Amino acid sequence: MYLNRRPRRNRKSSAIRDLVQETTLSVSDFIFPMFIQEGTNQKVEIKSMPGIFRFSLDTILEELKEVTDLGIRAIDLFPNYHETKKDKYASESYKEDTFYLKAITAIKEKFPDLVIMTDIAMDPYSSDGHDGLVENGEIVNDATVEILAKMGVAQAKAGADILGPSDMMDGRIGYLRDTIDREGFTNVSIMSYSAKYASAFYGPFRDALESAPKFGDKKTYQMNPANTREALLEAQLDFAEGADMLMVKPALSYLDIIAKLDQNFDIPIAAYNVSGEYAMLKAAAQNGWLDGDRAMMEVLMSIRRAGAKCILTYFAKEAAVILGS
Ligand code: PBG
Repeated sequence: MYLNRRPRRNRKSSAIRDLVQETTLSVSDFIFPMFIQEGTNQKVEIKSMPGIFRFSLDTILEELKEVTDLGIRAIDLFPNYHETKKDKYASESYKEDTFYLKAITAIKEKFPDLVIMTDIAMDPYSSDGHDGLVENGEIVNDATVEILAKMGVAQAKAGADILGPSDMMDGRIGYLRDTIDREGFTNVSIMSYSAKYASAFYGPFRDALESAPKFGDKKTYQMNPANTREALLEAQLDFAEGADMLMVKPALSYLDIIAKLDQNFDIPIAAYNVSGEYAMLKAAAQNGWLDGDRAMMEVLMSIRRAGAKCILTYFAKEAAVILGS
C-alpha cells in the first residue's frame, strides 16, 4: 500500500511518542482542595471520597508536610462548621477568631511558600445551606455580595493568596476587587468560579462540609448545564471586573466550556475536577472495573488538553506520586 502519510510513524517508540506529545501535566498545575474542621487530633475520612479526609489544624499541618514534600505548591482550603455556628447571615465567616481564618494564618506561618486559596460563599456558615442570603425563600444578590466582600477581606487579612468566589452572585468580582483593594490587599488574587454549573457532581463535597441546601436547589445562581453562551457572558463579566483567573466547574462534563474560555480569554483558565468526578473513578477502581491510576492520569490530561492551565483536584497527591516516579 502506498501511503505518504502514516501517522503511526510518530507513535513507533516511547521516545518518539514523548517527542511529539502536545500536552503535559505537571505537579505545579495542581491545586489540592482540603477540608478542615474544629478540634484537635481529627482525621475523618469522607465516606463518599475514599482517601480524602477532614483534618483539624494540628493534623492538617502534618499532612501538609507530606503534601508539600510531594511537590504540591497550592491548596484550596474549605471549612466544615458545626451546625451551632451557622446562622442566616454566615456571620461566623468573618469573625476574626474563627477557626478557619486562624488556620489560614497558622498554615501560612508554617508553610510560607505554599499558595493558599480560600473559598468565598456562604454555604459552610449558612443555616439555610445556600451560597447566598435567603429572604422569603429567595437568594438575594446584592446583600449577599456585601457579606461575601467582608468574608474576602477577612480571608485576605488572614493570609490567603488567592480568593475563590464560588457563589455565582452577579457583580461579586468587581465588588470584591474594589473592597479588598481599598483595604490594601492589591496583591491578593481572585480566581473566579466563572462558569459554575448546577451539577449533581457536588454531592460528596456537600457530605464533607455538611453543607447541603436545607431547601430547594442552587439553580437560581449556578448555571444550567445546557448552556454555553451564558458561560462566555459570565467569563466576560468576571474578566472585566478584574478576575486574575477564570474557573470552569465541574471539569469533565464541561471540557468544551474549558476550551471555549481558553480560546476567548487571555488569562489563565482553571478547572475544578470536582468531588463527584473523584468519587466515580474511585468507586470503579475499588470494584476492579477500571485501572484507577491510568484512568486518573487520562482524566487529568484531558482537562489540560481542553485548555485548563491549572486543575483543582482531589487526585493531586496520587498524581504527584506518579509524576514524580
Ligand atoms: C460551595 C462550593 C461547592 C463546591 C466548591 N464550593 C459546592 C456547591 O456549590 O454546592 C464543590 C466542590 C466539589 O464538589 O468538589 N460554594
